[in-house]
Amino acid sequence: MAFPGTGTIWMNGKLVEWKDATVHVASHMIHYGTAVFEGARCYETRRGSACFRLDAHMRRLQQSAKIYRMEYALDLDGWQNAVLDTIRANAMKACYIRPIVYRGYEALGVNPFSCPVDAAIILWEWGTYLGKEALEQGVDVKIATWSRMAPNTLPAMAKSSANYANSGLIKMEAITDGYAEAIALDVYGNVSEGSGQNVFIVRDGVIHTPPIGSSILGGITRDSIMTIAADCGFTVRETVLPREALYLADEAFFVGTAAEVTPIRSIDRITVGEGRRGPVTERLQREFFDIVNGVAPDRHGWLTFVYPKQERESRQSAPGAPADERVSHAR
Ligand SMILES: Cc1ncc(COP(=O)(O)O)c(C=O)c1O
Repeated sequence: MAFPGTGTIWMNGKLVEWKDATVHVASHMIHYGTAVFEGARCYETRRGSACFRLDAHMRRLQQSAKIYRMEYALDLDGWQNAVLDTIRANAMKACYIRPIVYRGYEALGVNPFSCPVDAAIILWEWGTYLGKEALEQGVDVKIATWSRMAPNTLPAMAKSSANYANSGLIKMEAITDGYAEAIALDVYGNVSEGSGQNVFIVRDGVIHTPPIGSSILGGITRDSIMTIAADCGFTVRETVLPREALYLADEAFFVGTAAEVTPIRSIDRITVGEGRRGPVTERLQREFFDIVNGVAPDRHGWLTFVYPKQERESRQSAPGAPADERVSHAR
């Protein structure tokens, strides 16, 4: 989605005009991929704008930075408040949220320690990632010829810019070969993940997804879907999946902040199940969208309302609002 090119960007605590939010071309991260980042969403819910699992996203940012020995002077509340303040400053209702922590400008050489740790928060409007139709019809994918990173090479648990060089290769291969996306295997040949999504399959009513050890990013949507599925009474197994388990699945789907819950209708031109969104996928998709859109009760406290006043007023004027709703505010 193209950038609007307007509004302000948070840079090391200051709001900077979009066009002025630049870094020097000799910044370390440009040359050596020394950045970690997040991708979260703020939804325009029925009860006002709310960030989905902002705490979990900012915690993962801190953890990614920890792996890469990047210390930044903000605690979890500080990060959440910085995001909320930036959304408010831009008066945004719904947006994609991209915080990034990076090694900046001081000297060039492999050693990152000589460069400062800087940070920014960028917001923009972003609709459905794989297209609205994909949410209903599903997407055609292939198995990538590129594997995900081998263990103990580039840490998959860190959402680092460096990992997206691999994701970019996977995505370009998919597009070049006429697919919407690709699923990568790990170096042992087992299912890992998409270029920017986690993968689930359904077989005989049981839901399966690869474990953290299969070189995946520990997705926050993945965790949410596992929780929602358990709430719905499904059995969910985190288990190593051989490639052919994908072909034999009754249903398969991607999850991620960008992809949300997107059905997969074919893999390597082999039809998955009935070749369309299956009933389990549809149920989980509906439950997910009902929560993020504020239609269903926020029973896990996943929504952080951006404009608390607006949210309070809409609660008061909504007589049918469920009594057990929990509303979390970072401040
Ligand atoms: C490689 C990769 N896997 C999985 C995911 C899904 O993670 P999340 O649900 O936290 O967005 C993403 C998205 O950021 C990703 O880039």
